[in-house]
Amino acid sequence: MYLSATDHRIPLSDGNSIPIIGLGTFSEPKLTSKGMCAASVKTAIDVGYRHFDGAYVYQNEHEVGEAIREKMAEGKVQREDIFYCGKLWTTYHEPEMVRPSLERTLRVLQLDYVDLYIIELPMAFKALEACKDAGLVKSLGVSNFNRRQLELILNKPGLRHKPVSNQVECHPYFTQEKLLKFCRQHDIVLVAYSPLGTSRNPFWVNVSSPPLLKDALLNSVGKKYNKTAAQVVLRFNIQRGVVVIPKSFNSARIKENFQIFDFSLTEEEMKDIEALNKNVRFVELLMWCDHPEYPFHEEY
Ligand code: A2P
Repeated sequence: MYLSATDHRIPLSDGNSIPIIGLGTFSEPKLTSKGMCAASVKTAIDVGYRHFDGAYVYQNEHEVGEAIREKMAEGKVQREDIFYCGKLWTTYHEPEMVRPSLERTLRVLQLDYVDLYIIELPMAFKALEACKDAGLVKSLGVSNFNRRQLELILNKPGLRHKPVSNQVECHPYFTQEKLLKFCRQHDIVLVAYSPLGTSRNPFWVNVSSPPLLKDALLNSVGKKYNKTAAQVVLRFNIQRGVVVIPKSFNSARIKENFQIFDFSLTEEEMKDIEALNKNVRFVELLMWCDHPEYPFHEEY
């Protein structure tokens, strides 16, 4: 797979494509000053990012839209260069709430369509199919689905638009081998959230597992290529066709995370990094563990 800073889209099963690296935009609203998100998205566009991962519930979607529109007005990018992924929050699964939720995202962004819209639990897909038919969204995907939940949707009688992607936690300590294999078999692109091992906020992250970026092997591989552990971790995933969406609102790190197209890992290094897998999630979403569709009780 040839990937470069200017050419790194990979195909989706519905004929669209997705840039293999995107900027994550979730940042604890109480701890983030106004304008940080917009400034970061603008920096990222200047650096070469074209993919942005956001959501209405992040409370900064308007800043993402503002930054994209400003860069379009400057002539730096056109709408079709940009890939925006929005999310249907769990409390909006009722079919009649789906389109209004997507339309609210479009209003907040002040854009005509989003490139990808993803849902968290296996409901509401029918209403989303209608949104795709109406041109409000180019591609439909899901997030945090386990194999059974993916099968549920794939086997749904009358399904017209298959999910093109599944956004899940994925990095060298949680490599998702089995889910990745299943997704590949079904033409579903895996999108890795928390690809750097997250912000380690103890309110929602299991911090008992050691920090990924301190890993000795990742740092020693990085030394060989004059790269950081973060760059090695991102390269590992894109080299196996997994889309990464590292969040950063720091311009030096936004740049750092994009410098992953000028080196490649050997097959042996890929294997060694894969072997770091601990099968332990940083993001367990335990507050929902007694929900009947909580996705993480099953093996994958
Ligand atoms: P910041 O926004 O200050 O850069 P993930 O995407 O895995 O959830 O990780 C996001 C966290 O990692 C954020 O706290 C972000 O902070 C930090 N981060 C982003 N890029 C890097 C990097 N290259 N090295 C170290 N930390 C990073």
